[in-house]
Amino acid sequence: MANPPVRKAIFPAAGLGTRFLPATKATPKEMLPIVDVPLIQYALEEVVAAGIEEVIIVTGRGKRAIEDHFDLSFELDYFLEENGKSNLLDATYALLDRVQISYVRQRQPLGLGHAVACGRRLVGDEPFAVVLADDLIYADPPCLAQMVQVYERHGASVVAAQRVEPVQTRRYGIVDGEPVGERTIRVRTMVEKPEPSEAPSNLAIVGRYILTPELFDEIERAAPGRGGEIQLTDALVALLARQPIYAYEFTGIRYDAGDKLGFLQATVEYALRNEELGDRFRRYLKGLMASL
Ligand code: UTP
Repeated sequence: MANPPVRKAIFPAAGLGTRFLPATKATPKEMLPIVDVPLIQYALEEVVAAGIEEVIIVTGRGKRAIEDHFDLSFELDYFLEENGKSNLLDATYALLDRVQISYVRQRQPLGLGHAVACGRRLVGDEPFAVVLADDLIYADPPCLAQMVQVYERHGASVVAAQRVEPVQTRRYGIVDGEPVGERTIRVRTMVEKPEPSEAPSNLAIVGRYILTPELFDEIERAAPGRGGEIQLTDALVALLARQPIYAYEFTGIRYDAGDKLGFLQATVEYALRNEELGDRFRRYLKGLMASL
C-alpha cells in the first residue's frame, strides 16, 4: 500500500528569540527579513514546493505580525493598486493562494516538542512535516521536497541532517546509524546535544522533519527535560524504539538564521544571488574587501 501523502506542516514559531534581542522584543524572529523576504515566507515557499496544502503556525505572545503578514492588507493593497505597484505583492499573494494557514497559540514557550504537540488536533492521524523557519535552507530541489522522496521510499519518519564541526555537537541532536541509500541512514542512535567526546558522530539534525503521527504520543509521554522544556529529540528517541527513523543528508546550504552570524551570512549570500541587487552588491563587497 502506498504511504499516506504528507499534506500538512507545522511551523513552530512561539520561541522567544532571545539571541536576537532587542530586535525580537516586539517583532517575531520569524519575521526578520533576508534581503526583503521574511524568514517565515521562505519556509512557506519551501513547503508549498513540496506539495503541502495546509500549514499550522504555532505562535505565542508578540507574534501577531505573522498573521498580518499572511493576510490581505486592505489599505496597502488599495494604495498599491492606485499607484500601479500591485505587482510588489503578486508573488506573496500567489503563494498564499496555494496553501491554507491555521494558527494555534502555545501559551508558554515550553520547548519545541511542546510547540509541535500544539498542532496535534489540526494534524490529526497522518504524517506531517515540521519546519523551523530560522533554519533557512537554499537548495534545488528545496530541502523538504528532497525529504518527501525519502519518506515515500521508506514510509517512515525522516529528519534532515548535516555534518557539523565536532565542537558543535553540543548544540544539536546528533544521529548515527547504517547507510541505506544515497545520503540516507537508518538511525540507530540519537542523542540530544552531546559533548563532542560523547557524540556518536558529527551528523546533526537541523530544522526539517517528516514525522509519523505516533510522534505525538511520545511527546505527550515525554517528561520535561533540560530547563523544564519538552524537547523534540527526546520524543524522537522514544519513537525510535517503536518505529524506524531515517536521517537524510540533504544537498543545499543551510543558514542558522536564528543566530546573528548565520543571519548575516544568509543576508550577504542571498543579496549576492538577488537578480536586482547582486551585481551592485558584489562590486560593493569587492571594494570593501580591498579597503580592509
Ligand atoms: P530556538 O531555541 O532556536 O528558538 O527554537 P528561540 O527559543 O525562539 O530562540 P533563542 O534560542 O531564545 O534565541 C527552535 C524553534 O522552535 C520554536 C522557535 O520559535 C524556533 O522556531 N519554539 C521553541 C517554539 O515554538 N516554542 C518553544 O517553546 C520553543
